[in-house]
Amino acid sequence: MLKATLLAFTLLAATALSATAAQPAADPLAPAGHWTGARAGRAATPPMGWNSWNAFRTDVDEAKVMGTAKVLVDSGLRDLGYVYVNIDDGWWLKRRTSDGRMQVRTAIFPSAKVGGSETSSFRPFTDKLHRMGLKAGIYTDIGGNSCSQAYDLHSPNLPEGTTAERQIGLRGHVQQDIKLYFADWGFDYIKVDACGINVYGADSPVVKQHKYNVYPSLIDQASINRTNIPAVRALYQQVADTLAASNPDGDYVYSICAWGAADVRSWGKEVGNLWRTSGDITPQWGRMLHTFDSASTRALYAGPGHWNDPDMLFVGHGDFDVHHLTEARTHFSLWAMINAPLIIGYDLRNAPPALMSIWSNKDIVRVNQDRGGHQAVLAYDSDDVQIFVKTLSDSGTKAVLLSNRGLAPAEVSLTPAQLKMVGDVALTDLWSKKTMTLAGDTLKFTVQPRESRVFEARGKRQLADGMYLSEIPGAINIARDGVTMPVPDPVIHRMSNPWGATINGGERPSYGGWGGARADATPYDQALTVDGKVFTSGIGILANSRMEVKAAGFSHFEAKVGVDDSTRNLKDKVVFQVFGDGHLLAQATAAYGQAAQTLSADLANVKTVELVARSEAPTSDLPLVVTWGDAALRE
Ligand code: GLA
Repeated sequence: MLKATLLAFTLLAATALSATAAQPAADPLAPAGHWTGARAGRAATPPMGWNSWNAFRTDVDEAKVMGTAKVLVDSGLRDLGYVYVNIDDGWWLKRRTSDGRMQVRTAIFPSAKVGGSETSSFRPFTDKLHRMGLKAGIYTDIGGNSCSQAYDLHSPNLPEGTTAERQIGLRGHVQQDIKLYFADWGFDYIKVDACGINVYGADSPVVKQHKYNVYPSLIDQASINRTNIPAVRALYQQVADTLAASNPDGDYVYSICAWGAADVRSWGKEVGNLWRTSGDITPQWGRMLHTFDSASTRALYAGPGHWNDPDMLFVGHGDFDVHHLTEARTHFSLWAMINAPLIIGYDLRNAPPALMSIWSNKDIVRVNQDRGGHQAVLAYDSDDVQIFVKTLSDSGTKAVLLSNRGLAPAEVSLTPAQLKMVGDVALTDLWSKKTMTLAGDTLKFTVQPRESRVFEARGKRQLADGMYLSEIPGAINIARDGVTMPVPDPVIHRMSNPWGATINGGERPSYGGWGGARADATPYDQALTVDGKVFTSGIGILANSRMEVKAAGFSHFEAKVGVDDSTRNLKDKVVFQVFGDGHLLAQATAAYGQAAQTLSADLANVKTVELVARSEAPTSDLPLVVTWGDAALRE
């Protein structure tokens, strides 16, 4: 203990010293003293709107987009929050050789035909959307060429001209393009894809066939070790910096589309407002589960201003079409619960009422848009049945979803404990609007194949005067998660590949993030357990981690801490520290096999609590799993 205390004082002194000497803090676990996570300014709640890709691929045009925009307004969807109208791949004609200015394909966007044949502008288009009370989104690529130039080779809307004219991505033009899209053309949202740094390597057949410039592949989707993570992140960061510096009204949303590759599931929150956690969704049940799973365990990495993106909605197509409303409602409900952006991908000009009633379910939208930004957390998990619980901002209210992923009816029991509630719980079905009471220990439901039941639950919280940290993931910033080597996450549904035959041995886990922080589970998907005691509430994380927690309004922190029984590193000790606005408030040292110790701290006017778990004198590289059991803020 003495040793640990000395260590803490040395660290505090070191922090103070480095601050006076104005040097960067050498200790990555030193408390920041304040919240350093995303601020809610932009994308305070998950972005909502429409995108052309899932509806039209590159066969997009102005009539289709404006027709859709009109439906958004006339149907009331805009007033529910669906304000972004985003054009995806296919809008470009070429890059002007004289000065590199991008040209719009005016044959499909006629309002852009301004200023002569070698000039064009999306300004009339975005002005019109703005006049309609909508916002406008544009699409580009982080490299030199786009995805359609590799994958949609029969499209009539591919960029035209010389090799240089067909370089329509941001590569070498970040400042120029961002200024054009935001300051000159007035866009409010940008999606930045990654094909340009993925499929245009020297050995790519498409490069030779179509005479594209070679760009060495920075992303290998099948191999995280062969992906240049720092280089990918730096390119996306450059765009973030440019957006921040050169945006006239400061109102923009930055969507990173790197398909869960390059460990973006870990760093996306520090760079963009949303980041794709997986490859593309398709209108197939299994693929929807796959992209959902890539985001659904990442609650601690999202919150106001920064959202996991399991890709755009495919409601209306394939397995989610008007003949499969059960599946369509499930897809929509799942996205709503995990705070996914709600971006419609359907030709709204022809949408049947049954589909319109899905996107316009006010109650489900309200769950998604709750200002707390707490992504739902798994309360029960299996390959067939899942229960997710999401804390809403009204005191004592939660949303709960019971989902049957399988093909047989499932008996599902809901308990107050799963809701972290005690006593009777009032339930309102957010699809049928029926009400019922969960009285006693359980309420049983028969959930039909592929059905999801979603309820608003009102009751007495287990902690009458506080919140478990795992109930408020949107108020937590995982500043360091202790992961030293990105490892592919295996807890993601593996569908048979929608684009290929069943060849090459099957679908392998490929998205980094395994070992990341989890609410109510360990980083490796075990129950939180210290010396045989199971904690149903808590945060599981690796040692050498630091979390920031918004604590305003609370007067006390407490947790039962220890090395988790599931750790692979059984030898090294861990020092747990609690800081309040940078001041050390409590600490304890723990070893594997030792009972959980109580850490508690009074928080007088503290805004940010920081929770540091540090391996004391590491002797092993094996992952050291720690548990902040029952970690809670109390009033
Ligand atoms: C990639 C993206 C999609 C879409 C297409 C466009 O596949 O992940 O969302 O933008 O490119 O070509």
